[in-house]
Amino acid sequence: MQLIPVVSAKGGVGKTTVAANLSTTLAESGRRVLAIDLDPQSALRFHLAPDPGCADGGLASVLRRQRSWRDAMVPGRQGVVLLPFGQLDDEPLVALEQHLAAHPGWLGELLAGFALPSDTLVIVDTPPGPSVYLQQVLRLSRLNVVVMLADAGSAAAAPLLEQRIERYCRPRPDFAGNAYLLNQTDPGQRLNNDVLNLQRRRLQAEWLGTVHLDPGVSEALASAMPVRQYAPWSQAAQDFAACAERLLQRLAAADAADAGGAPAAASPVHG
Ligand SMILES: Nc1ncnc2c1ncn2[C@@H]1O[C@H](COP(=O)(O)OP(=O)(O)OP(=O)(O)O)[C@@H](O)[C@H]1O
Ligand SMILES: [Mg+2]
Repeated sequence: MQLIPVVSAKGGVGKTTVAANLSTTLAESGRRVLAIDLDPQSALRFHLAPDPGCADGGLASVLRRQRSWRDAMVPGRQGVVLLPFGQLDDEPLVALEQHLAAHPGWLGELLAGFALPSDTLVIVDTPPGPSVYLQQVLRLSRLNVVVMLADAGSAAAAPLLEQRIERYCRPRPDFAGNAYLLNQTDPGQRLNNDVLNLQRRRLQAEWLGTVHLDPGVSEALASAMPVRQYAPWSQAAQDFAACAERLLQRLAAADAADAGGAPAAASPVHG
């Protein structure tokens, strides 16, 4: 099992969109994919569940002891298996978050109980910024997909996330590094191009790619479909394919490094 959280320091940058579209693209390429929604907004189902109403139960219903984990998983688009977050009222949500804070190994134990085949890619959608959900995934992640926009807000918030990655991921020998994705890029805007070139140079081996600002992305969401199914020839569909391909290359390189005894993680980049 390879756990790949999709994270960001700032909200609304496209994490759920990226988690959904990477999941379906990877599944299309023949990989076994479990997509977990670990964000109380419970929005991943709108991209992945053919009937988002079927995904009402999810993790929340298991915590309320209404369902088993197996029953909480629903078939998603393109063969992805989806574990939705579901709906929790305020009190149980606070109780869950307190439980997660007190039990740092909660997600690891949960996934161990699923006995997933070792080649399964587990893509996890997360809420923005620091949270107990972020702590849980960073303690286990193989590779973090970090989503950013080419704006000052993403740059200003970045240290919040970097500190957590330094703390929970970098010391682990099984951590293969970050994969940075710049979303909603617009080649017509000079600032966008400047930031893109700067980040690509700065991040080097940890650079995953860009996804263009593309109306097909929000139209696909309105139709509850992945972008590659809704608009296969769109720029964003091609961008997601390229990012999924690079993600697989990073994982393969990390596996090869592990087998050869070399360090798996790309070097952290500062400055
Ligand atoms: N490449 C893109 N082109 C056009 N629209 C996009 C693109 N990526 C995301 N969006 C739109 O941006 C909005 C926010 O995306 P999304 O919900 O995936 O962000 P998020 O990071 O998951 O937000 P949150 O932090 O609230 O969880 C959505 O309306 C989505 O359709
Ligand atoms: Mg989201």
